[in-house]
Amino acid sequence: MSYLLQDPIPLPKSPPSNDTWLPLPASTVSGDIDGLFDFLFWMSAVLSIGIMVAMTWFAYRYRAGSRAQNEVSEKTSDHNTALEITWSVIPLLVSIAIFVWGFKGYVTLRATPKDALEIHATAQKWKWLFTYPNGLQDDKLHVPVDRDVRIIIQSMDVLHSLFIPAFRVKMDAVPGRYTELWFHATETGDFPIFCAEYCGTAHSDMLSHTIVHPPGGYEEFLREYEKKLLAMPPVELGKLLYETKGCSACHTTDGTAKIGPSWKGVFGKQEALADGSSVPIDENYLRESIIDPQAKIVNGFPPSMPAYKGQLNDQELTALVEYIKSLK
Ligand code: CUA
Repeated sequence: MSYLLQDPIPLPKSPPSNDTWLPLPASTVSGDIDGLFDFLFWMSAVLSIGIMVAMTWFAYRYRAGSRAQNEVSEKTSDHNTALEITWSVIPLLVSIAIFVWGFKGYVTLRATPKDALEIHATAQKWKWLFTYPNGLQDDKLHVPVDRDVRIIIQSMDVLHSLFIPAFRVKMDAVPGRYTELWFHATETGDFPIFCAEYCGTAHSDMLSHTIVHPPGGYEEFLREYEKKLLAMPPVELGKLLYETKGCSACHTTDGTAKIGPSWKGVFGKQEALADGSSVPIDENYLRESIIDPQAKIVNGFPPSMPAYKGQLNDQELTALVEYIKSLK
């Protein structure tokens, strides 16, 4: 399901990659992480092949020629202190080197640089939604190239995980708390985002894109996106806000009551309130109920709606009101 706007400017395409081993490294940490990964991989490969070959050779070379020979119990070898110290100390040094290398990388990944651009990521079954500093939201992650970016992650329902392989970063989205990751993209282009925590039926469809814009492109994108929003007919913008600002969690547009009253056909009605009075539902009532929902509670519904005061501008309020009016 995609309910957001068409891209307002042409977006950069994926850079070509001829690497069949790992995805194209596209962030400042990619090189170091790949280096450690390659080191561990090749060291493991060489050691396991070496051990297999030696084991096979020894089994052949020192095999017993006969049963009698096999049962000789005389002492045939002694321990060698120098050899034992060598084969203990070398792996110890290698292990320490791997630990230091890994720990330094871990600290780099966990310590977000100051003055990073902050973008919120919200995970929900089964989509990603990104909120930009100016309040715009999109289902793609747009970032500028050559800049530190901090992603603050939350989940609306279950565990998810934001995974951007090209940047070699991944972080769980945990319901009820914020988590974060940061990166500094070094390549422009379009890089896939995956959900890396099994979260239900459509987990494998929970995909998105990171769009790394060339210098100036990120700002242009947000500007053009905003322009496009401003130029939208109020009813259309209202529908978009209904879907992106959380209204749809409690209000339906088909007449069925959820946590709050349905929006269908409410405009123009005379509504009974919890305090026994009644009000006509007009533009001013709707506007007040969005900004300050506790002011007039409709009879039979809990006073549970959060206030949207300060979260929506006048144009957006008008758009929502017009959208509700359109639901005859
Ligand atoms: Cu969300 Cu898997």
